Amino acid sequence: MLEARPAVRTLPTYHPPLGGRDGLRLDFNENTVGCSPRVLARLRELTAEDLARYPEREPVEAIAASHLGVEPSELLLSNGVDEAIHLLCETFLESGDEVLIVVPTFAMYEISAAATGARVIAVPAGENFCFPISALLSRVTPRTRLIAVANPNNPTGAVAELADLLEIARRAPQAAILVDEAYFEFYGKTVLPAFRGLPNLFVARTFSKAYGMAGFRVGTLLGDAAQMTMVRRVSSPYNVNAIALACLPIALADDGYIQQYVAQVREGRTQLEDEFRNCGIPFWPSEANFVLARIGPLKPAFVDGMRARGILVRDRSRDYGCEGCVRITIGTAEHTSRLLAALREVLEEIGATEARAQ
Ligand SMILES: Cc1ncc(COP(=O)(O)O)c(C=O)c1O
Repeated sequence: MLEARPAVRTLPTYHPPLGGRDGLRLDFNENTVGCSPRVLARLRELTAEDLARYPEREPVEAIAASHLGVEPSELLLSNGVDEAIHLLCETFLESGDEVLIVVPTFAMYEISAAATGARVIAVPAGENFCFPISALLSRVTPRTRLIAVANPNNPTGAVAELADLLEIARRAPQAAILVDEAYFEFYGKTVLPAFRGLPNLFVARTFSKAYGMAGFRVGTLLGDAAQMTMVRRVSSPYNVNAIALACLPIALADDGYIQQYVAQVREGRTQLEDEFRNCGIPFWPSEANFVLARIGPLKPAFVDGMRARGILVRDRSRDYGCEGCVRITIGTAEHTSRLLAALREVLEEIGATEARAQ
């Protein structure tokens, strides 16, 4: 019988609960109203001829590079950050190498790294999910070849100090340091300019979150030009499709759309955090477009109650340290009003507020 490689046979599986997502989808950290109307207009203009051609990534990379203030040689467009993670792993990891991640975190670091046969070492986050800089540095060895950190982190919304991330890059020059800034727009702080002095530092950004383009599958990996040449070798020349490439420049040009969306999310985040505080529900302050809260043993009833009101939230109970936790995405002001109204009703209905008061 044909057998997959041992590293693949033992891989953890990642099955996001994609089925039956009708309703207000606050479960995947997507933009709740989608991309800019200008992007949709561009989409409608595409012709059969546009789609008959193999996609040309380079001209759009030049536009994205100028938008982000880097050289085209320092940027690769990818099929989402998911693919950027995969390409980094394929470029730098061999069987037996060590990879450090901080848990809980985004699942794809472990999956892409473990698929190469590398050994993934999970360093638990500190109290209140704070970034465990000392514990992480203490696990660095000469075999460490990748350290992946989401900043802000998913599912906690917590952030690492930028100085700590740069310190890791300095202390582990033999390793690729991936700072995944998928939620950058909601946070506003970045390590991006630092890669010029740190050739082992890579930054990933996505157009799936603030830009509302998760279905297009487009993201970007940035880093030292010589290192990016190596990553580019591993990439298929047509990894980003023609539809995404046609629309990305329009999305980048419509800054106003992103700004007004992000402003609504930030406002909604404060409102949701205030609501949890008032109800006595523990939560973790977030710098992303979602908030993680610990509902506790009533969590299944909470998730069901929200679903019954047409609102999907994500059960994160299986993540390290997240027993009884749900992650709720924040969207527009209108969606936040709907969320807060449903939340109050459900917490009351399942007796969560009384349970806390006792
Ligand atoms: C930290 C983080 N990185 C990457 C991704 C995936 O991004 P993309 O849609 O660009 O593959 C996610 C999606 O949830 C995420 O939370």
